[in-house]
Amino acid sequence: MSARKIFVTTALPYANGKFHIGHIMEYIQADTWVRAQRMAGSQVNFVGADDAHGAPIMIAAEKAGKTPQQFVADIAAGRKEYLDGFHIAFDNWHSTDAPENHALAQQIYLDLKANGLIETRTIEQFFDPEKNMFLPDRFIKGECPRCHAKDQYGDNCEVCGAVYAPTELINPYSALSGARPELKTSEHFFFKLSDPRCVQFLKEWTQDGFHVQPEVAAKIREWFGTRTNPDGSTSEGLGDWDISRDAPYFGIEIPDAPGKYFYVWLDAPIGYLASLKNLLDKRGEDYDAYMADPALEQYHFIGKDIITFHTLFWPATLKFSGRKTPTKICVHGFMTVNNGEKMSKSRGTGLDPLKYLALGMNPEWLRYYLGAKLNGRNEDIDFNPEDFMARVNADLIGKYVNIASRAAGFIAKRFGGRLGSVGSDGQALLAELHAQQAAIVQAYEDRDSARAARDTMLLCDRVNSYVDANKPWELARQEGQDARLHDVCTTCIEAFRLLTIYLKPMLPATAAQVEGFLQIAPLSFADAQSLLGTGHAIGQYQHLMQRVTVEQLDALFALPEPEKVLPGGEEIAPTITIADFARIDLRIARIVECQAVEGSTKLLRLTLDAGEGRLRNVFSGISSMYQPEQLQGKLTVLVANLAPRKMKFGVSEGMVLAASHADEKSHPGIYVLEPFPGAEPGMRIH
Ligand code: MSP
Ligand code: ZN
Repeated sequence: MSARKIFVTTALPYANGKFHIGHIMEYIQADTWVRAQRMAGSQVNFVGADDAHGAPIMIAAEKAGKTPQQFVADIAAGRKEYLDGFHIAFDNWHSTDAPENHALAQQIYLDLKANGLIETRTIEQFFDPEKNMFLPDRFIKGECPRCHAKDQYGDNCEVCGAVYAPTELINPYSALSGARPELKTSEHFFFKLSDPRCVQFLKEWTQDGFHVQPEVAAKIREWFGTRTNPDGSTSEGLGDWDISRDAPYFGIEIPDAPGKYFYVWLDAPIGYLASLKNLLDKRGEDYDAYMADPALEQYHFIGKDIITFHTLFWPATLKFSGRKTPTKICVHGFMTVNNGEKMSKSRGTGLDPLKYLALGMNPEWLRYYLGAKLNGRNEDIDFNPEDFMARVNADLIGKYVNIASRAAGFIAKRFGGRLGSVGSDGQALLAELHAQQAAIVQAYEDRDSARAARDTMLLCDRVNSYVDANKPWELARQEGQDARLHDVCTTCIEAFRLLTIYLKPMLPATAAQVEGFLQIAPLSFADAQSLLGTGHAIGQYQHLMQRVTVEQLDALFALPEPEKVLPGGEEIAPTITIADFARIDLRIARIVECQAVEGSTKLLRLTLDAGEGRLRNVFSGISSMYQPEQLQGKLTVLVANLAPRKMKFGVSEGMVLAASHADEKSHPGIYVLEPFPGAEPGMRIH
């Protein structure tokens, strides 16, 4: 049989925040599966990317004073620390805003269109009358039309998983202004999922017992049933999917449709393909040829909140654009901490992954702990500190690492670091370990690392009973027992190597240390059928793993220091020199004239005399605070050497100084500076 070729992804995280422990859990699950596949001889490409697009990121970037591109690049720069820290070995990390994704998304759309599955329709959409913009789904909140949970987002319900149009929300409100949104019309593009071809394909694809777990298939069945429409009427089956958004939007432009962009969830999963293409291009491999191989398998690891997108929209997008559909969608549950409520995507969690690492806690503890709980179903998983400590200390230290530490010293001190021969009882024990290989490989294949961990720990118990029965520490003190001591310790080392193979997908760094200690090449599953053999020289045993301590767990969950009080709502900027300051030319200026600006609710137009023998025109966003006549004739401070800026209403030749709090919402107000009496236009401020 030739090696399996597998393309694996995890969900692409929104690029508006750091990773939380839920993300890390997903990556550990997928990484463990990928490592097991590679140990079984499969050729795997494992890719991720940042999900860069969408209105929430656009709005967050604006708030941060960055372009969306810069904003997502800054988030992306922080990813490596987490991934390396937990030994998560993606082959590539890309972005849905990359050129590959723009090209692929546009082509896939054109293919769907050519297939008669795209339609435009004029729809009514919520518009925020205070903010003057169409409201993105995530900025409309209200009651879920299906389960009636309050404060749900406009696109889907985090409580029951329903996906709907924002207009279906009960008692909607704008999350930007709190205003009740108004309906306005706009032309939108739809993917006709209600087309009988789509419905028939998806019913088969989701219900054939292969592509999704049974509990997921059952959930999907509900969505093929009766739906309630925005107007209260009901329809059978799938609704069409609105795939466009109006400018302003951070996303991919729809071909031949100015001002229209793909909704983020259209191009996000295409980012899987874009990241793969980017990887293959970098390696000089042919993406089209790779995807065209009918033997290629495609696995997506996702959480249970995004099932609809991955089991309906995504397979349909691929199928009806003439592309390969996924092999399996692997759905996991949510991670909670200390039996806490489900961690919200935005609020994060009580277990900070970077704090875990900073405390010197071993990433492999977490990999093992989660691995020992993940069983391939989409149940939620709780991180419980006592349970964590007991599991790691009892299993990894007490059962597994102990085997090596009990035997290695004797091999080094008494037998020159060389293994001896294994007696018949040792051979019987090792045969039991060999025999478990197929079952453990299958457990990993089924994403049931819990079973792999359990089976391996039972084998550890068997080996430890053998050690207890033979007591090498007593043999070592007895006359004439050298050969038996050598045999028992050799059996332990051989067994330890086999157990290391079985744990390696969960404990890659520990396994690498063991490979160093045993002086062997990287272990794969096939190595579980062989032995090191008599005469093999092993290296010096170094302690492989520390125990988890109560102090570490206390520190991990200790509440963070109370937040610093920030003057004016923001931290003082980094130190500059007097020379830096001298580059800014600040002058006293008289406000000769001040007028409202027609068409702007924020700006006033100031005509300034800074003693230059000419007047300057400056726009200033202070109209919420001052009537024009209040300012006329007053002195203020002008940044006189600021590059002129072209604005909608004319060129602004400088800037007047004004003070405001960083958080305008809670501390509104902007205050223009005025010098003490005696200052005159043109004086420089030093
Ligand atoms: N950007 C979308 C996915 C696009 S995929 C083409 C998204 N991003 S996310 O950052 O909110 O979530 C990324 C993944 O993390 C999802 O699979 C989600 O289910 C998972 N998790 C988010 N919180 C989680 C937990 N508390 N526990 C486990 N997984 C969690 O959705
Ligand atoms: Zn709901």
